[in-house]
Amino acid sequence: MTTNPSPDPVRHVLSEAMGYVYAAAMRAAVELEIAERLADGPRLPEELAADAGADAPSLARLLRFLATRGVFREDAEGRFHLTPYADPLRADAPRSIRTGVLAVTAEVFWTSSRDLGEAVRSGEPAFDRRYGRPFFDFLAANPDEGAMFNDGMANLSAIEVDDIVASYDLPTTGTVVDVGGGQGGLLLAALRARPGLTGILFDRPEVLPGNVLAGLGEARYDLVAGDFFESVPGGDLYLLKNVLHDWSDEQCVRILENCRRAMRPGGRVLALDAVIEPDNQPHFGKTTDMFMMLLVPGRERGRREFEDLFDRAGLRVTRVLPTPSAVAVVEAVAAAS
Ligand SMILES: C[S@@+](CC[C@H](N)C(=O)[O-])C[C@H]1O[C@@H](n2cnc3c(N)ncnc32)[C@H](O)[C@@H]1O
Repeated sequence: MTTNPSPDPVRHVLSEAMGYVYAAAMRAAVELEIAERLADGPRLPEELAADAGADAPSLARLLRFLATRGVFREDAEGRFHLTPYADPLRADAPRSIRTGVLAVTAEVFWTSSRDLGEAVRSGEPAFDRRYGRPFFDFLAANPDEGAMFNDGMANLSAIEVDDIVASYDLPTTGTVVDVGGGQGGLLLAALRARPGLTGILFDRPEVLPGNVLAGLGEARYDLVAGDFFESVPGGDLYLLKNVLHDWSDEQCVRILENCRRAMRPGGRVLALDAVIEPDNQPHFGKTTDMFMMLLVPGRERGRREFEDLFDRAGLRVTRVLPTPSAVAVVEAVAAAS
């Protein structure tokens, strides 16, 4: 029996340090719509390049590299095929992640990542130094980047909202407030799952026009623009998906206090964020945590840190439920109840 030798540590580290070209290669393949061009079957690089307006030898090299990670596959005739890792790059794929890939590889993220060391030294987001203002203010002032981010978040959400809704026993009546709900993908899934619920999508004014709720019918939801550091609308169930991870502890306590104040008797608050375990294992949240460090004052947290935040806001964590997605459900009620 033979066993694979351990990788040479030096080559392994060097290869990992060059790993950013993998993200760049994936973005290039998305921009050139290679996955879409392979939807009807395998093709030669020359055929793909002619359609995509690309240089055939360069495209062959790009795809050869991506194939080393299972994104596309080359056969003995030199034709490239879709694979399970390449298919989600298609815009029309059932669980397409195309818009999400374009968002997480966007220029504002790349350039901020060059300052990660400074972010670690200072404890301040790299983004603010490079772009001169906080991330969400920048998005508001730059509609193209704002649309790219909001569409990307909506895409990342779309692949997980059904898993989240299926993991939590939603109430059958009352009002759900999706706080910082973006385009409302989670609220849409919740309202579809429970026809007796009504909803409020609450976000910054520039974000709400892109919402996905129209198909529900106007009687089922309201759009409310505002600032969750000031106040949030009244309701029975508060959803905070990928919101607390954007903010410092003090800022999170303010958001949670505003939810507690606005919440009707018997109300609940659900934080839907990665909940990090104290181990050395890979976790999607440990990767998104690096994005948080680059962009915003927040971070991904562990269970104790969530309990502390809720406690400081007059709320009590009742349970933490895993979901098949990257986020867990941290459920809380008013501390006195
Ligand atoms: C990381 S996104 C999450 C969006 C959505 N919940 C999801 O999971 O797809 C954070 C959201 O918070 C919103 N947001 C940021 N600052 C806000 C504020 N001060 N008041 C209300 N919403 C805010 C952003 O516009 C954005 O939609």
